[in-house]
Amino acid sequence: MKTYKLAVLAGDGIGPEVMKEALKVLKKIESKYKIKFEFTEADVGGIAIDKHGRALPDETVKICKASDAILFGSVGGPKWDKLPIEQRPERGALLPLRKMFDLYANIRPAIIFKQLADASTLKPEVVGEGFTILVFRELTGDCYFGKKGEGNDFAFDEMRYTIPEIKRIAKVAFEAAMKSKKKITSIDKANVLKTMVLWRKTVAEVAKQYPEVQLENMYVDNAAMQLVKNPRQFDIMLCPNMFGDILSDLAAALTGSLGMLPSASLADGKFGLYEPAGGTAPDIAGKGIASPLSMIEAVEMAAAFARRRKTKE
Ligand code: IPM
Ligand code: MG
Repeated sequence: MKTYKLAVLAGDGIGPEVMKEALKVLKKIESKYKIKFEFTEADVGGIAIDKHGRALPDETVKICKASDAILFGSVGGPKWDKLPIEQRPERGALLPLRKMFDLYANIRPAIIFKQLADASTLKPEVVGEGFTILVFRELTGDCYFGKKGEGNDFAFDEMRYTIPEIKRIAKVAFEAAMKSKKKITSIDKANVLKTMVLWRKTVAEVAKQYPEVQLENMYVDNAAMQLVKNPRQFDIMLCPNMFGDILSDLAAALTGSLGMLPSASLADGKFGLYEPAGGTAPDIAGKGIASPLSMIEAVEMAAAFARRRKTKE
């Protein structure tokens, strides 16, 4: 029986409590599917700053490197908000992990479950039962990782994409579309930004290899409007890093709560980081009322990827 080594990085706020529930589900999966998980816990985020002086201690990186995947809770909180941005839990832990492991393909499914069909603030005929959107977000480029700088009266974050970076995330989305409804909406701002002209052109190049998939291009501002007005028109949304960050929150909120959006960040090959896309919710942390659903969905995604890989081996 194959054993999967999982680094468990619960983090701050509601991270530890939702992680605890999700691990119970993995245990159940273990007994049902003849698969074994080995968990190693490590500190990350604010708790790591408090204990080790850094959001991503070397020991944590070592544990992640020795694992098949990372289960990530959430990081950050008011206690650490005053730190310089590079040291804050979000920038100091999550972004280096994404870069270090080349986790460029971020998959975020926003799904409405039957039992929660009336949780959305939108009318049931607009969203409602059976509603699903898959956001494919590029995760290691864009203004998140471009050159950064500041002076006395200015600051900048360079928005930058290379053709190979765009190609590889587009390929992941097109492969998924082949197994889904064969429809992709690619999001950009090609009416203003050069990087986004390159994005649109490169996605169109990749699309040539998938003639069965219908590709539609949409400006991000229009996409935000369309998501609220007529979300059922979407199946797979392919997004650059920053726009994917924003639209995935919006897509999740359509289902009623950000607490229902899981997130898988994948590298080429086998490695992945699985997390809830919501935050640390410090206002409700420790009260036992945070929904563990997105963390549970995240570990389910981990298990699904592990099983798929197992069958390929
Ligand atoms: C997300 C989060 C992160 C991001 C933050 C916490 C750095 O909002 O995963 O969506 O902006 O990518
Ligand atoms: Mg976000």
